[in-house]
Amino acid sequence: MRLVSPERGTEGGHGDCAVEFIDAGVEVHAPAGYTLLDAAGLAGVSLPHACLGNCACLSCCVEVVSGRGHLSLMEPPEHDRLQTAPGLPGGARLACQALLRPGRVVVRRLKQPVREW
Ligand code: FES
Repeated sequence: MRLVSPERGTEGGHGDCAVEFIDAGVEVHAPAGYTLLDAAGLAGVSLPHACLGNCACLSCCVEVVSGRGHLSLMEPPEHDRLQTAPGLPGGARLACQALLRPGRVVVRRLKQPVREW
């Protein structure tokens, strides 16, 4: 597990948010307001992001295994984007859209990332 000291401010404050990337065996701490994609970057966990975090592809899709309540609610653009990819796990989120809230979240990268773009 790697602990991270944030270098940028966040609207959500600096509550302790932990994200475990269960398939990578890595846990990282990040401030509230960071996205799951930000947390992956801090952790050094490779996570595709073809549209650079603009909710326009599906490459950053992850399965939230536990701790959904410690992420921001899904907004319509993310929901609509996920609906374009049938067969995703029930806990699927776009890592670039899900903001961290204080608490612990466990996610799994998809073995075969969705490549629609
Ligand atoms: S990086 Fe494209 S939707 Fe997240």
